[in-house]
Amino acid sequence: MSSVREQPAGGAAARVLSEAMIEEIRGYFPRYPTRQAVTLPALHVVNRELRHVPLQAVVEVAELLELAPAQVQDTLTFYGFFKQDAPHGRTRAWVCRSISCALLGGDDLLRHMCRRAGIQPGQTTPDGKLTLEFAECLGACEAAPCMLAGDTLHKNLTTHKADQFLDGLP
Ligand code: FES
Repeated sequence: MSSVREQPAGGAAARVLSEAMIEEIRGYFPRYPTRQAVTLPALHVVNRELRHVPLQAVVEVAELLELAPAQVQDTLTFYGFFKQDAPHGRTRAWVCRSISCALLGGDDLLRHMCRRAGIQPGQTTPDGKLTLEFAECLGACEAAPCMLAGDTLHKNLTTHKADQFLDGLP
């Protein structure tokens, strides 16, 4: 993760966007018709680096994009993907609960994994290794039940495979 800029004098909130994050966000400007259109890519940059998008980041993204913080916050809350209060785990896993996966035990698998990890869907383990979420169709119904963990799609998930996944978490 890139370094975070120093806190400005005068008691203002500590800045959370690093210079590298700001540069990356600015890099999107020529590729989009308006700065507002950069909101979602900017939120993804922040989320990738901080594993959540705190309110202070919303304020700083809004400054960069010349928007009101409320406009950025509206986008953030619309998607429900971004966590705001605390970082998600180093691995964020999405277990599909839509019809094909549900029929083949997706719900049971999520319950099993939550029980083993000691958390509820949407929560993060105390050691920060894992956040478990339910997902709607991941577009891999032929491989049901399945789970997306980071960029890896785990197909035809079984309890055994889920246990191996949990045991192998970095
Ligand atoms: S229903 Fe689970 S991937 Fe489509």
